[in-house]
Amino acid sequence: MSPRWLGRCPGCGGYNTMVEEAVEPPERTARPGVAAAKPVRLVEVAPDKVQRMATGIPEVDRVLGGGMVPGALMLLGGDPGIGKSTLMLQLAAHAAREGPVLYVSAEESLAQTRLRMERIVPDAPQGVHLLADGRLDVLEAALEAPWRLVVVDSLQTVYDPDAESAPGSVSQVRLVASRLLRYAKAQEVPVFLVGHVNKEGSGRPRAAGNAA
Ligand SMILES: Nc1ncnc2c1ncn2[C@@H]1O[C@H](COP(=O)(O)OP(=O)(O)OP(=O)(O)O)[C@@H](O)[C@H]1O
Ligand SMILES: [Mg+2]
Repeated sequence: MSPRWLGRCPGCGGYNTMVEEAVEPPERTARPGVAAAKPVRLVEVAPDKVQRMATGIPEVDRVLGGGMVPGALMLLGGDPGIGKSTLMLQLAAHAAREGPVLYVSAEESLAQTRLRMERIVPDAPQGVHLLADGRLDVLEAALEAPWRLVVVDSLQTVYDPDAESAPGSVSQVRLVASRLLRYAKAQEVPVFLVGHVNKEGSGRPRAAGNAA
C-alpha cells in the first residue's frame, strides 16, 4: 500500500501494477448521550422548585435574588480590605447551623481564621470546617464530603500543582473556577468564590455600555 502514485511497485518491482483504491472514511459514531440531548420548548420546561438558602443577611439575599441557589457558583469580588472574608465568615457561620460548611482559606492559617471567626461570631459554630491549603487536589478530596455550603477565599490562591502556570494566573483561575463550577452543579451545593481585585483594578468587572 502507498499513499501516492508510484510508477514502480516497491513490493513486486513491476511497473504500472499499482491500482488506486479509495478508502472509505470510517462511519461516524455518535458520542454517548448526544442523541438524548435535544432542544426542548421553553414553555415545556417544568419550573424548578429551587429551594433558595437564606444567607442570614437580608441585603445579601436580595443581591442573590432571594438567597443562595444550590448548585450556583457565586463570585464575591472587591478591593483589598473591603470586608470580603468577614462577610464570607458570617455567611459560613449562618449556614453551619443547618449543615457542615467548608471554608477554604489558603491565605490565612487555621488559627488566624478561628480567631477572626470568634471575633465575628462569639460562639464559633460547630459546623464550620477549615481547610488552609491551596492545592486543588487537596480541595477536591475535601469536596467529597456532603457540604451545605463551600466558600473558597480566595480563588487566586487555589492552584493545580501539576499545571505549569503560577497560582493566580489566568489559566489557573480559569481551571479552578471551572472545576468548582462542575462540583457545584453535580452536587447541587452553593459555592462562593472570593476574588481579589488588585490595585490596578485587574479582576474588576469592566464597565459595559452605559454603566455608571
Ligand atoms: N462591615 C464592616 N464594618 C467595619 N469593619 C469591617 C467590616 N467588614 C470588615 N471589616 C474590617 O475590615 C478589615 C478587613 O476585612 P477583611 O479582612 O474581611 O477584608 P478582605 O476584603 O477579606 O481583605 P483582603 O482583600 O485582604 O482579603 C478587618 O479588620 C475587618 O474587621
Ligand atoms: Mg480576605
